[in-house]
Amino acid sequence: MNLKYSLVIFILVISRIDSITQFRRPCEDLSEECLSKSLQMAFPIFVQGIPELGIESLDPYIIDNLDLMLAGGLSIQFRQGIAKGLKDCDVDFAKLIGNTLETQLHCNLTVKGKYKSLGKLLMFPIDGHGDASIKCRNIRLHGLFKFKSKVLSDGEKYLELISSNVEHSYDGRVSYHLTNLLRGNPELSNSVLDFMNNNWRMVAEELGGPLVDYGVAAVMKNLKQLLTIIPMNKMVTVPLNL
Ligand SMILES: *[C@@H]1O[C@H](CO)[C@@H](O)[C@H](O)[C@H]1NC(C)=O
Repeated sequence: MNLKYSLVIFILVISRIDSITQFRRPCEDLSEECLSKSLQMAFPIFVQGIPELGIESLDPYIIDNLDLMLAGGLSIQFRQGIAKGLKDCDVDFAKLIGNTLETQLHCNLTVKGKYKSLGKLLMFPIDGHGDASIKCRNIRLHGLFKFKSKVLSDGEKYLELISSNVEHSYDGRVSYHLTNLLRGNPELSNSVLDFMNNNWRMVAEELGGPLVDYGVAAVMKNLKQLLTIIPMNKMVTVPLNL
């Protein structure tokens, strides 16, 4: 790598960190109103990621390889996947109670890719291999995050996530577009797909959990990484007793 190139990368990284740490805060206190507004402003910047610092982009989020085994006995191999929509989530609220941040978001999310699947979905035998696209409209994400503070080797205080719990529910519908659910049988494939869409909630109960857990794990990984980069006094400018 030549010096000029390294310098450009360096400046890019610094400006991205700055955009996260010094983004124009709408307000400075810890009220529910201020936290909600701040999270709404910071969230799109956070999901954009800083790959150079181990914070990957979450929108678009690349899913190279995802293998799922559903409880009902359906295996799914998902490849060349791409998930979108996180940066446009609406923050309903965010509040701090003691050391716990409670927040709720509504999002429209889309996942697309190639899939292979074998087994049983509800009562249908599945032997599929094709393109998949799943759209969730108005999915509700509710999260509880517990923090403590910790002094790192640079002598600065940082926040540390000690536990998290994210639950999802569907305030809008989920639509499925999958080609070739039963190899070589387009008519039956279409009937199964119709069934899936007519019973989207039942299907989402089978499929949604593992997919959402996968996404939440990616967000958590980024959040933990971010917390080791930005000292607490840059995150919140008012004293926080943790
Ligand atoms: C999701 O999509 C619906 C319909 O297009 C729209 O009304 C809603 O505002 C969107 N929600 C978000 C969080 O973008």
